[in-house]
This record gives sequence, structure tokens and C-alpha cells, in this order.
Amino acid sequence: MLKRLFDLAYSLQSLLLEGEFVDSSRLIEICNSFLDGYFDFIVYSHSYRGFVVVFRSNGDLKGFKDVLNKEDIANFLVRLENGISYLDFYFFTRKYHRKFVLRVIIKEVLTEEDERFVNNLANSFRSFIEVFDENYVKAKIIDVLKDLSEINDIQVVISKLTKVVKELLGVEASSILMKDEKTNELYFRQVDSEKGDIIKEFRIPIGKGIAGKVALMGKPMVVNDVSSSSDFFSVVDEKSGFKTREILAIPIRSLNRLIGVVEAINKANFTKFDFSDALILDTIADVSGVILVTADLYEKLERLFKSIIDSLVASLDARDEYTKGHSERVRLYSTEIARELGFGRNELSRLQLSAILHDIGKIGVPDSVLNKPGNLLPEEYEIIKRHPVIGYEILKYVEDFEDVREGVKYHHERFDGKGYPEGLKGDEIPTFARIIAVADTFDAMTSNRPYRKALPFEVALNEISKGKGTQFDPEIVDAFLKVSYKFYF
Ligand SMILES: [Fe+2]
Repeated sequence: MLKRLFDLAYSLQSLLLEGEFVDSSRLIEICNSFLDGYFDFIVYSHSYRGFVVVFRSNGDLKGFKDVLNKEDIANFLVRLENGISYLDFYFFTRKYHRKFVLRVIIKEVLTEEDERFVNNLANSFRSFIEVFDENYVKAKIIDVLKDLSEINDIQVVISKLTKVVKELLGVEASSILMKDEKTNELYFRQVDSEKGDIIKEFRIPIGKGIAGKVALMGKPMVVNDVSSSSDFFSVVDEKSGFKTREILAIPIRSLNRLIGVVEAINKANFTKFDFSDALILDTIADVSGVILVTADLYEKLERLFKSIIDSLVASLDARDEYTKGHSERVRLYSTEIARELGFGRNELSRLQLSAILHDIGKIGVPDSVLNKPGNLLPEEYEIIKRHPVIGYEILKYVEDFEDVREGVKYHHERFDGKGYPEGLKGDEIPTFARIIAVADTFDAMTSNRPYRKALPFEVALNEISKGKGTQFDPEIVDAFLKVSYKFYF
């Protein structure tokens, strides 16, 4: 009998962990398949957050130990109330942060010996649940780490960390604070809470409040009632309207240096933080240390990369007075076109690089030609026409930059094949270049030049329309026209 109950319990637990909603008719069906003939009726109790199985003893059960298989591991506590025995199977899922209970009511009085036996088994099952939970927690954390190697947007990984804290600890809010070495304060790196935007504005001096204390002492803290704690820094609550009840805060370290604090705030269902919560948050703090240090390095590299690109563009702007700001506007127009075409985040940022750098080759065009007042001679025009290839050459040694380089090299190609430098046609022209071509031409027409004034917005739009299928890719022109209202000035 117990074997069947255990199989049933296991099967229900798997369903819960998979997130499947079990309604009462499905439950009856499942229980029937395991307990055929043993129960009278079954109820799913919402208020009890559990299943109540009521079944009758079939009269053969003399004492439990006669029918139990000792190798079965099951959790059940036996209570005797008014002569009715209950077997409670507890399922705790960190996924929902709820305890589920399968209560089996047995209409038979148990002997003392049965009780002892049952208590021993209950202990075994408790350890089973602990291992099960531990594995679930590990799996969740490994999931975050796996994302770290797959995506290059570190911010996504960090926001996953606070989400995992919320899920595994069953809390209302969670945040990651980082230490600002210069000001000796903590700032909110990530907040997962309804009031996140307001909370993010606060800075907490090291030593102040619970997080500040944790940072100062380098030790975890749990406060299960902040109203009675003199350490609580109430300013954040007062200004944000968030109501903190309990806090569990753990220091984040990397290579033995304190870099921040991870906090879990307000347990669901008004329960309190316990030791297992602290253990889980401690594991997350370890993982956070690695991730935050990686994020820091990654962001430093990004900033460095961006500043190199900016100075390249600035050096072009310094040479060519009249095209100042042109690169930035071409980037803006290209961005809107690409969004309309449904570009993903990654592809979009590649295109933006290509667009801002599209004329970078003009750095290699002599001043006498680049800044010549009046009309260009045919041979001077030929020199200007070399700028896409020069740009390509400048960027040749940047690793993993082929798509960006090609956008630069081919931005003067025409859809009908009459452009330069190679006279590519239609789809032979890389998409980035086809987009930049439209953005570039539009900006050239709507900017003042030494030899002519800017064309009015409508006239420029009309010109772009006219180039559909000849100078430009028709699909890109359509996308451009759809978003062009954003460029009205
Ligand atoms: Fe150009």
C-alpha cells in the first residue's frame, strides 16, 4: 500500500515541478491509477494548498508494518486526532514556494509500533526532500551560469540573478548592490521590485542600514522584523513607499574582496527566513561575484571600444566641417529603418557601428580635395570615391568586424548595379550597406552644403521614393518611408 502511495506522491510532485496545473478530475484520474479501489473520494483543497485524499481501509490492513516495504522512502507524519489517522505527504517546491500536502486520511487506529516505524521513514523522506531541493536550486543557478556563456548582454544575466533569488527564496523583492570604491557607498546595480526605479536612485553609505552593515562587517545578516531593528535604514522605504518586513543580506566577494551585497526582502506568506534560505542566497552571492566582475570587465571593454569609435568619428568631423554630425544622423536613420525591418538587438548594434563609421575612409582623402570650395574636377571626384574602400582597409584589422566593414565598403553601391566601388547589384549588396545608402542619401539631401542649401523634408522624401528599385532596395525604401515621420524637422 505504501509503495502505491509513494508512487502517487512522486508522480504528483513531478507534475507540480513541471508546472502542470492539476485540476480535481485529473487528480482523481491519477489517484485512481495508483490507488485503485482504496479510496472513497478525493478533494483538491485550495485553502489547504494541498490535496486531500480520503480513502477507506479495505479491512485487510492490520498494522502498517505488515504492508509497508521498508525500502520505500516516504514522508509522512502520523497524527491521531479523534481516532482518525492522517498521513501527510509534504511536497515543498521552491518553484512556487509553497508547501503542498497530500493528506491521506485513514479510518483506522494505528498501533504505537506503527507510529515509531512511520517516524523513522519520515526522517528518511525529509533527507530525500532536502537533496531534491538542493538539486533544484543547483539546476537553477547552473541555468544562470549557462546563459552567461551564451549571451553577451551581461545585464540580462544580472537581472536573471535577482529573479532567481525571488523564485528560490519566495520573496517579494531582491536586489544586488555594488560597492562604489570612490565614495565608499553601495549603489543598486539591479533591483527586482515594483518600486525598482525609485529604489535605484538611492545610495547607501557603507556601515549604514542592514546592507551597509553587511558590507562593512563582511558577514551575512538576517532581520526577521525590521521595525524592531536599530540597523534598518528606513529612508529608502519612506521615499519609495515600499514596506520592508524582513531582510536577508549576504556579502558578495570576488577574490576575497568585498564587491557588493545581495538582498532578499519579505518572504511570501509572511513566513520567516531560515537557515536554508541563507545557504541558497550564499550560493547565489558566490555566483554573483563571478558574474559582476565579468560584467565590470565587459563594460569597461565596451566603454573603451566605444571611445575608440567615437574618437575615430570625431577625427573625421574635425577634418570635414560640413559633414559634422552626419555620421551620427546616418546612424539614427539606419537604426529606425532596421527596427522597422525587425532587426534583433545584436544585429542592430552591428549595423549602428557600420553606420557611424560609414564615411571613416574620408580620413584618407587629402584636405585639398575633401574641403575644396567649388566644384570637383573629375579626377578629384575619383579620389573622393575611394573613401568606402579606404574605410574598409582602416577597419581591416578589427577582429570579428566583417559585417561592419562591408556596410562601410558598399554604402555607395546602387540597387541597379550602377554604384561603386564594385558595381554590386540587388541582394549582392550586403543589407547593412543597402540600409546605410538610404539613410546617407536622405541626410545629404537634408543638410546644408557649401554649394547648396538643404532640400525641404518632403522633397527629400520624394527623391528617396523615386530611387526605389533603381538606386535603392525597394523594401528598405518602404521601411524608411514608414518611419520617416520621426525625422520631420
Ligand atoms: Fe559616403
